[in-house]
This record gives sequence, C-alpha cells and structure tokens, in this order.
Amino acid sequence: MRWKERAYCGELQTEQAGRKVLLMGWVDAIRDHGNLIFIHLRDVRGIVQVVFSPESGIGIYQTAARLKEEYVVEVEGTVCERAAGTENPHLTTGRVEVEAERLRVLARSRGLPFQITEKAMVLGEEVKAAPDKVDEELRLQYRYLDLRRPSVQARFLQRHRIMGCIRQYLDSLNFIEIETPFLTRSTPEGARDFLVPSRLHQGCFYALPQSPQLFKQLLMVGGLDRYFQIARCFRDEDLRPNRQPEFTQLDLEASFIDEEFIYEIIEELTVRMFALGGIELPRPFPRMTYREAMARYGSDRPDLRFDLAFEDVTGLLGGTRYTIFRRVLDAGGLIKGFRVKGRSEQLSKNILQNEYALRLVPSFGGRGMTWMKVQDGRLESNIVQFFSPEEQAGLLQRMGAGDGDVLMLVADTDPDTVHKVLASLRMHVAQRLELIPTGVFRPLWVTDFPLFELKDGRLNSQHHPFTMPDRTDFDPHDKAACLKLNSRAYDLVVNGEELGGGSIRIHDMAVQRKIFTALELSPDEAEGKFGFFLQALEYGAPPHAGLALGLDRVIALILQEPNIREVIAFPKNRSAFCPLTRAPAPVDPVQLAELGLQGGGAELEAPDAAPGKHAGRKAAPGRHRISAGEIQHIARLARLHLEPEELHAFQKDLNAVLDHFTTLQELDTRDVEPMSHVLDLKNVWREDTPALDSVDPAPLLQLAPMRQDDYFKVPKILES
Ligand code: AMO
Repeated sequence: MRWKERAYCGELQTEQAGRKVLLMGWVDAIRDHGNLIFIHLRDVRGIVQVVFSPESGIGIYQTAARLKEEYVVEVEGTVCERAAGTENPHLTTGRVEVEAERLRVLARSRGLPFQITEKAMVLGEEVKAAPDKVDEELRLQYRYLDLRRPSVQARFLQRHRIMGCIRQYLDSLNFIEIETPFLTRSTPEGARDFLVPSRLHQGCFYALPQSPQLFKQLLMVGGLDRYFQIARCFRDEDLRPNRQPEFTQLDLEASFIDEEFIYEIIEELTVRMFALGGIELPRPFPRMTYREAMARYGSDRPDLRFDLAFEDVTGLLGGTRYTIFRRVLDAGGLIKGFRVKGRSEQLSKNILQNEYALRLVPSFGGRGMTWMKVQDGRLESNIVQFFSPEEQAGLLQRMGAGDGDVLMLVADTDPDTVHKVLASLRMHVAQRLELIPTGVFRPLWVTDFPLFELKDGRLNSQHHPFTMPDRTDFDPHDKAACLKLNSRAYDLVVNGEELGGGSIRIHDMAVQRKIFTALELSPDEAEGKFGFFLQALEYGAPPHAGLALGLDRVIALILQEPNIREVIAFPKNRSAFCPLTRAPAPVDPVQLAELGLQGGGAELEAPDAAPGKHAGRKAAPGRHRISAGEIQHIARLARLHLEPEELHAFQKDLNAVLDHFTTLQELDTRDVEPMSHVLDLKNVWREDTPALDSVDPAPLLQLAPMRQDDYFKVPKILES
C-alpha cells in the first residue's frame, strides 16, 4: 500500500489543480454517461468526483464501467478545476474533480441492504438516504455499512473530540486516568447486575460494575487525590431511548474538596464540551433544591426551556364552595396548577373539558382537572360561578394571569399525585403547543435530595449508601427523623435530561455504620456486601467527593440526537439485543459444563430477539425440558446454523411435543378399546417387535450402497 503518498478525497480544493494524487476509498455513487463515467469516491474525510474517459486508457475505462457501489478502489489521477456550471454545491470538494489515469479495485461489495450515499451527484438531484429513513434494526444489523455514511461518521468524530476535551481539561487540573476492574463484586447503584460465572471458582460469579463507585473511593483512600476514568458501566435495567445495558460514564473523584469544587470544574467542562457542538452555555449554572424542583415542576430533573411552573393555590381557596376542591381540602389535600400564557384560542373548551379533564388527566392518574380561561380581565369556565370574587381575584393574581391565558388546576388528597399529574400535563401541553424551543440549552444543578426514601416500610438510599448526609447527629433508629435528612448529593440536568450525578462521600466509619443501621443492614450483611470497602474506611480515608456524567447522554444532547444509540458505535436495540452479533446467544453446553452451569442455565429457553418479550422460562418440576444447549448441539451435528429465534422456536415446539406426550402418558388406556387401525391390535400402545425376526432383510437391503451382515453400513461421520 502506498499509504505515504495517499491524499484524502475530502481535502481536494482548487489549489491542488494540476497536481497528481493517489486516492483510496469507497465508490459512493456512479453515473455512466456513455462516453464518460463519473464516480463519487468517499473516504473518511469526504467525497470527490472522479472522471473516467476512454482517453484514460481503455482498460481503466472498462474496469470503471464494472464498478459498483461500495467497491473499494485505488485511483490515481490529476486534480482539475470543474468547468463553470458543473460545480457540485453538495460537496465541499465540488469545485474540483479528479481525471483518472489509473484504477485498481481493492475489494468488491455485495448488493447493499440499504443505500449508503448521502450526496447527490448533480445540482437539483435529491438523495433519500438519511439514516433515520432506514429501519433501525437493519442499520444495526449492518452497522459497519451504516457507519460508512458521512453523517454517522461525523457523530463519532465529535464523540472522539469530546473525549479528547475531557482528557485535556482534567489533565490540566492534575486528575489522573486510572482503569478499574470489570470483573468485580456487585456495586450498589440500584439496578440489576450482569453476572459472569467463574470457571476457577465454580458456583461463584463476578459482577460487571454498574459504576466504578467503590473503586474510585478506594483510589482516594489510596492517596491518588484526583482520579478520572472514561468508564464502561453495565446495568441490567429496562431500556429507554436514553438507557443502554452498557454505557459510558465520565467518572471522577477528588480528595479534600467540597461541592463548590465539583460545580466549578463540571460547569467549565460542560461548557467546553457543548462549545465543541457550537452550543454556548451560560455560567454559573442555576441551582435548585430537590424540593423546589418537585414543588415547581413535579420532577427532579425539570426541563427549564419552557415555563409552566406550578403555583400552590391551596391556601387561597381555603374557604371555597366548589365541591371537588372542598372535599380535597377537607381531607388535607393539595391544589396546584399552572398558567398557559396567551394560548386560550388553541385550547378550546372542548379540548380542556372533554379531552384533558375527562380523558388525559385520568390517564395520568389524576381524578380530573379544573380549567379556567381569562377574558376581559375575568375568569371564564364551566365552574367559575362556584368561586367568590375574592377567590377569583386571588387566583388571577397568584397565577399572574391575563387575557388570553388558560389556567389548569389539579387537586388531590395525595400531594405526589398532584405533582405527578401536573408534570405529565406540563410536558403534554408544552409539546402540543410547541412551547419547547429548539437549539436552547438550560443546565441546572439539582441539590439537597432526601437521603432516604421509604420502600415497603424500609428506608432505602436514594442515591447510594456512601452519600454524606447534611447532618450526622441523627438517630438511625428514628425513621421519621431519617426521612428528613438531606444528602449532600447533586445532579446535573440539562433540558430535562439527567446528565450526571454525584455526592460528597462518607469518609468516617462511624457515620457509615449509622447509615447501615438506618438501612437495617446488619453488621454481618454490611460486612458480607462491602467488607473490603468498610475496612478501607478504617485506615484514614480523606474527605472526598465525586460525580459521574453519562457521556452517551451528554454527546447525544450536544449532537441533538434523540436517542443515545445514535452516538454508540455498536449499541443494543430496544430489547437489549445486538442485531449485528446476535448477542446474547446460547452457548456451547461444553462451555456451560466447564463453568458448572449445565444444570441451571442450560434448562432455560433461549432469549427472544423481539423487543418487549421476556427471555427464559423455568422448567416445570419433574418434566424433561429440552434445553437451548441440546438443540444447539443437535443443530451442530446436523450441520445446521440456527438463528436465536429459530432455536427458540424449535425449543418451544419440542417442549410442547414433550408436554403433550407427558399428558398422554398420564392417561390410563388399559381398558380402552382400540380405535380403527390398519393392523389388528389390542391396544393403541403397541409393543414393537424387532423387525428382523419377521421380515426378510434381503429386499430391504437391496439398495444399500454398503452392507455388513444384515445392516446398512454408513460412513463414519454419520455414525458419530
Ligand atoms: P448514576 O447512577 O446517577 O451515578 O449515573 C451517572 C450517570 O450515568 C448515566 N446513566 C446512564 N446512561 C445510559 N444508560 C444507562 N443505563 C444509564 N444509567 C445511568 C446518567 C447518570 O446521570 N456512581 C454514581 C456517580 C457518583 O456518585 O459519583 C453513579 O453511577 O447520565
């Protein structure tokens, strides 16, 4: 390969006109004009047009005529300025072309499952190859082809630049990059673990890290002062557009610092990363406590690109006659709502009453919604007569409402329901009325989260159990007091997306013990789960804190991609399946046996690739089940390649047959008269008699290619 002489397609400009170049890349598109052949040659830096004419040499011309899309070629030629009027504004190199003098095909390509080219060859031509128009499953199955598109490659180039920016910035602050193990013990991040069975310690499992949380804290105990890692994390949880089973965090931790240090460096880093996407973020980022976020927006990650903040009107309507509110107030409930500014015309009475109050709000879990419009300085609605003039004036004032505005109010005895319903309604209204501006980015720190939450009557850490409480003088046996504690935790939210989170950590063993007591974790349990970590806290742990940013989310937001799969080179689909490698897949029974797993895992049916279906069903006790491993074993003997879905289907069908026979065997047929049968039999369950006793083998073996005694002889491979 003459890689030293190679020029890049996307870099050719008029300044190079007259120069000979050597290009290597893929045939993006071809246009055959009969006497001239044009190709778009594409490499990682862009596309240039190459022209072949019979004058280039008849051999080259004929080779060019046989080129197909995505052939890999090497072209040598001269850069020429295009004639006026033939420039291609779709290409950055559109003012030049290369007149080919040599052509070598380096690799051929099969017909493509979808179109790759994104650039029209001539002015006015349309290219319908945007990645979002191709079925995502197909794109992921042929990800290596999808990755060839310039628009897809551009995302990974940006990802690379963002990672570079992180490394450079943190290095300048003396953070050092350290890798922590993948094969480890479970980390307490709240999701399910992916487990890896150990061959050398049978019956034992490693857990893939949900985050490097404990290791980074141990690095601080180890005196490394400032650590970071671009870390892969693994969480077995239900997928959403912003969740993957394996994802990447920028994980960092520092010693002898406080919250302000984290805010300062993460704000600066975030500003720098967003700037790479041409987005300017204003600093400092605003801060909001968890309680305020919940009270104003019903969410701990409010989207501040639009307003629709909630107002509490409970006190204002304390004496109301309106029965629905009266009942809620008498039961100590809450009435809250928001104002939609100037949208009275778009929100007709029919929409507000029949669509929202009667259908939408109940679907969000609310009992109903009260609405009012403001017209000529007065409130208008189907129930406004139940409110006194003072109450109406109070509402107008509290909600800051004026003509053309709409008020939406929700009341419930359960404050959480009010917040939840209003939060869903807020998002719905914002989307419907297109109140969410594009190209606007609103960062926010959410702070002062409750340290604990109540789950099934027990306290649970809202973040993880190593988060420092706002005070340490609490009684761990007093649940009510514990529920009042705040954590010294912080989340970074941008446009309603949680980009990252972290906290000041507990570095004092006595406080850590109190937390475990509050969590009703006995010393033995705590020891069993995190003994190694707790022990480290007893050897002089420095005060430390840290945070992790979900990098896939950060990058998707910067690139304004709606889901993080677009910024991950080889993501899983929505059912955590990889359409390219077809993972997860059943494994060889021999491998399972080596791991001591043949009894358990092998009994499970194969996973189903289709989104939304659950994998695996346990065998009914006492029945023989065919395992995925057995089917795979038979398929291998039969030289059959089975796709996971086929394997699953075979397994299901064969097990259904086995189940059917099990039920048949349970039937007592001793006294059942035989049904009509070609042979004269006493019972449908015929005892087979060896055929050779009663049959002359000679005619049977007449056609046998090889015989031995009275048997067919078959080649060895079929015998095994
Ligand atoms: P946390 O669990 O909040 O904190 O995770 C940090 C950030 O990681 C991202 N994230 C995900 N991204 C894609 N797919 C997922 N399944 C997924 N889960 C989380 C989010 C989230 O904000 N150890 C702590 C950090 C610390 O305390 O320092 C932790 O992992 O953007």
